[in-house]
Amino acid sequence: MAGLDGLADAARSKLDPVHWDYIAGGAGDERTLRENEQAFDLWRLRPRVLRPVGSRDLRTTLLGTTLDTPVLVAPTAFHLLAHPGGEAETAAGVAAAGSLMVAGMAATQPVEKIAAAGAPLWFQLYLQPDRGFTETVVRRAEAAGCRALVVTVDSPVFGRRPRDLANGFLDLPAGMACENMRDEDGRVRDIAMDADLDWDRVDRLREATELPVLLKGVLHPADAHLAVEHGIDGLVVSNHGGRQLDRVTATLDALPAVVDAVGGAVPVLLDGGIRRGTDVLVALALGASAVLVGRPVLWGLAVEGATGVRRVLTTLADELEHAMALTGAARPAELTPDLVVAAEPTGRGTPRQPGEEREGR
Ligand code: FNR
Ligand code: LAC
Repeated sequence: MAGLDGLADAARSKLDPVHWDYIAGGAGDERTLRENEQAFDLWRLRPRVLRPVGSRDLRTTLLGTTLDTPVLVAPTAFHLLAHPGGEAETAAGVAAAGSLMVAGMAATQPVEKIAAAGAPLWFQLYLQPDRGFTETVVRRAEAAGCRALVVTVDSPVFGRRPRDLANGFLDLPAGMACENMRDEDGRVRDIAMDADLDWDRVDRLREATELPVLLKGVLHPADAHLAVEHGIDGLVVSNHGGRQLDRVTATLDALPAVVDAVGGAVPVLLDGGIRRGTDVLVALALGASAVLVGRPVLWGLAVEGATGVRRVLTTLADELEHAMALTGAARPAELTPDLVVAAEPTGRGTPRQPGEEREGR
């Protein structure tokens, strides 16, 4: 098996088809979902030669935490759907790979249990209309040892996902719940999307915590600029894996303008469509400090639990390291924009002459 090839199919065969659709699917016609991956195909590598790459080092420091790899785990909901070990199983794989996990507010295990697996954690938040409750969750994440808060800002309302609508996938199976949403009396609240979220709420959150705060789901350079003005500690260029609004730009296409707007003030991370080490290389060359992977981690989790999660992360790291050697880069910081060039457009968004053949894609 080359790289992650075959892993999605292996996961699919293990999962309930409705749960597979929930994980695999996206919003609308799934155009953005596809284009997240395709965007990487439109870049080619332009290696430097005669640069010593004998001692390579992927270590990456983000907001004070040094990791063995620049490939992190994106927050994804409901890991118990994929494996009986749930999010703690994922975290064990992350720890073994020397990476970092963004634990989700929509986890099916409590953050305290996920933290016990020993991986460095950041905590993903959907700021709730009930501010008191949001603060309770923040205190729990802090106490559990999470090192940063990642506020998802691309979800004022929930995306419309045709597969889930067709399947009637609305509720978790009996016995599973969003454990970070439990009140003191044991009742589990629904996760609310707050359609009135604004910069003021983000400012209030920053005042209410000592932890660094990142925003996840920024695509527009003007928002990146505002984020820096508001003292945000990092950004994740993300379109939620194409699950929120279809026809949104692929994240790789959005990255350069965001990196430009931020001007090195804070780290810019990217997620969406990372499936190969060379994808990671392109994202880092175009200015990402690190990347996150969503679905492939769930595939690994479904197929082989913690071992599968570790394998996904180390496979991507190993492919990245190999590609870096052949590109003349010994460490991620040496991946600069001159090492990649835009390929001739192969049809995506490009008008074609009538009768022109198009290579199958
Ligand atoms: C997600 N994602 C997500 N993001 C978030 O901020 N909070 C969440 O609860 C979830 N839940 C979730 C569930 C599932 C099943 C998936 C696939 C994704 C989005 C996730 O963090 C990330 O942005 C994308 O998954 C990245 O794209 P790839 O790597 O899946 O292509
Ligand atoms: C999702 C939500 C939970 O993408 O963020 O499914």
